[in-house]
Amino acid sequence: MEFINVTPDYKPHIALVQLNRPKELNALNLQLMQELKEALKSLDQDETVRVIVITGNERAFAAGADIKQMADKSAIDMLKIDQFSTWDQIKKTRKPMIAAVSGFALGGGCELAMTCDMIIASETAQFGQPEIKIGVMPGAGGTQRLTKAIGKARSMEMVLTGKFINADEALQYGLINKVVPVELYLSEAMHLATEIAKMSPVAAMLAKESVNRSFETHLDEGLHFERKNFYLAFASEDQSEGMQAFIEKRNPDYKGK
Ligand code: CAA
Repeated sequence: MEFINVTPDYKPHIALVQLNRPKELNALNLQLMQELKEALKSLDQDETVRVIVITGNERAFAAGADIKQMADKSAIDMLKIDQFSTWDQIKKTRKPMIAAVSGFALGGGCELAMTCDMIIASETAQFGQPEIKIGVMPGAGGTQRLTKAIGKARSMEMVLTGKFINADEALQYGLINKVVPVELYLSEAMHLATEIAKMSPVAAMLAKESVNRSFETHLDEGLHFERKNFYLAFASEDQSEGMQAFIEKRNPDYKGK
């Protein structure tokens, strides 16, 4: 891996993926995205991993797709390169993913953070979809996920002017979970990951899938989907362990089975 660092056992049951193109503010070139896709696929299959944290560095989570790599491409080049199939695969990650964001999360960087399930930000974080300033528009979910997260008026303003919002605004708009001082953003993300890693990984996977389904369906179908996953949770050993532990007034010991 040239552009990302992967630590599957950063903490018990928690993997850390760090984007590592610091000079280019972690601009997401095709190779980085390919590496990220492969890493997430492998971590998703790794039984020891329960939660995945994705981060950048203090200055940048990621400043977007690599503009220099795209600048001379034609529409047909872009169609053939088919970069978004990589993003589609990343979206399929079944384990909970937390973005630990400091500095710039712009364009594809903001879209990558939004592809994660939760976002912890440092107080220096800035979120934006500035593609309009370079003559294009968001292409990796920015118009869809941002609008679902913060609503039409704010999303239109960000997408049509390219303006950035700071971490406090992002929190107030409901885009992110928490803002902390810059020296704490990774440890805060790890704290959240640790809380989730204590839960049944089977239940977490089913719950994540069900929450995400709410964005893609109407209420009755979503409730039906939720119910199926609720019943499926009863096929796990973790269900009997969790309920038995409650009755015996002890902490559960989940095995992910
Ligand atoms: N692609 C390629 N290189 C980038 C980049 C990007 N998205 N963002 C920053 N860089 C590079 C700069 O070119 C610069 O490289 P050099 O030193 O070789 O010149 C280096 O990173 C540092 O950047 P700056 O000197 O510009 O740093 P700054 O602090 O003055 O500005 C910034 C920071 C405001 C983030 C500015 O770099 C910027 O505006 N970047 C582009 C942001 C953007 O438009 N992102 C959207 C990309 S399109 C997209 O993402 C499409 C999609 O939806 C998938």
